[in-house]
Amino acid sequence: MAPPFSRPAVLFVKLILLGLVVAVGTWIALARWTMTPRNVTYAPVPQPIPFSHKHHVADDGIDCRYCHTAVENSATAGMPSTSVCLSCHSQLFLDSPLLAKLHESARTGKPIHWVRVHDLPDFVYFEHDIHVNKGVACIECHGRVDQMPITWRTASLEMQWCLRCHRDAPSHVRPLNEVLSMAPQKPLSAEEIRQLNRLYKLRDAQALTNCSTCHR
Ligand code: HEC
Ligand code: HEC
Ligand code: HEC
Ligand code: HEC
Ligand code: HEC
Repeated sequence: MAPPFSRPAVLFVKLILLGLVVAVGTWIALARWTMTPRNVTYAPVPQPIPFSHKHHVADDGIDCRYCHTAVENSATAGMPSTSVCLSCHSQLFLDSPLLAKLHESARTGKPIHWVRVHDLPDFVYFEHDIHVNKGVACIECHGRVDQMPITWRTASLEMQWCLRCHRDAPSHVRPLNEVLSMAPQKPLSAEEIRQLNRLYKLRDAQALTNCSTCHR
């Protein structure tokens, strides 16, 4: 008696099953990989010059944009050049040993190499300007920088961290005049949130969690 299915048909079904198993396996592995928290350190990052945001922001009241000039109009916030520091330190604390590297940089013309505190992988697309111009405050992502004698990070920068906010963007935005403020944020009323939503024309969670928003 002839078998009920021809050999090529059986092979075909086996291949499909195998394909399915591989696909499901890959999916689960990828999902677990993206969900597992990485070892993130929140320790202060040693820098060539022990720069203190606490001194410069909280005590001296210098605006973030004095040093991070591009934060409102480009993808990166930008780091201060030696000449920005010298606008004060060509007179202030001239003899401080802590500033020896600054004056060396001014003499040689070699920029200071600040060690990165935050560093996203290259395959992630991130822009400061869109966040800052749509009312997401520095403090939401960087914490109380004004209290840091040496800078550290307060957010994991993992995908889940981005997604948690993108799923519920309306409750994370502030009026534009509060974006740079380091004061603890007071809660907004439902009406204020509605108004901000209209102002910023926020897209819905589906659009903001779409893979191509951050991987393009
Ligand atoms: C007087 C200049 C100055 C001012 C004002 C200033 N910063 Fe900075 N900022 C620096 C320097 C220099 C560094 C690099 C050294 C470090 O990481 O501490 C830095 C680093 C940072 C970093 C870490 C960057 C990285 O490597 O990932 C963040 C975040 C940051 N600043 C946020 C702010 C915020 C928010 C404000 C305003 C509340 C502010 N800064 C005001 C000079 C300044
Ligand atoms: C607008 C003026 C201003 C600018 C710009 C500025 N500083 Fe300062 N800096 C100060 C003042 C004022 C102090 C004293 C701070 C205090 O004790 O409150 C200080 C203190 C310091 C000290 C501590 C010195 C000591 O001996 O205790 C270091 C280090 C320093 N600044 C580095 C920097 C660097 C690096 C930059 C550029 C990224 C910079 N500063 C930009 C005003 C400035
Ligand atoms: C939505 C979250 C978010 C907000 C809001 C935000 N940042 Fe950042 N910031 C980041 C991330 C993420 C990085 C790392 C970017 C990278 O590695 O490409 C970063 C990096 C930086 C850096 C290092 C230089 C650079 O551009 O990579 C500085 C300085 C900085 N931010 C300052 C600020 C200041 C000042 C504000 C407020 C005006 C601010 N940030 C608001 C998330 C944010
Ligand atoms: C605290 C809230 C918050 C966090 C955290 C956050 N975002 Fe956003 N993001 C927003 C808001 C609000 C918008 C503006 C949404 C709109 O325009 O509809 C936005 C917009 C964007 C856009 C622009 C989308 C477009 O199509 O123009 C990109 C890209 C983006 N975010 C990437 C990221 C990445 C990557 C991270 C994590 C490293 C991140 N965001 C973390 C709130 C956040
Ligand atoms: C709001 C921004 C955002 C969106 C939307 C987003 N990702 Fe990511 N993704 C990130 C960030 C940030 C990282 C880097 C995480 C890290 O370094 O730990 C990342 C990393 C990854 C990685 C590498 C594994 C890892 O965790 O390091 C994969 C794979 C990935 N994303 C797939 C996706 C897929 C698939 C989607 C759509 C379902 C998606 N992402 C949507 C921000 C986003």
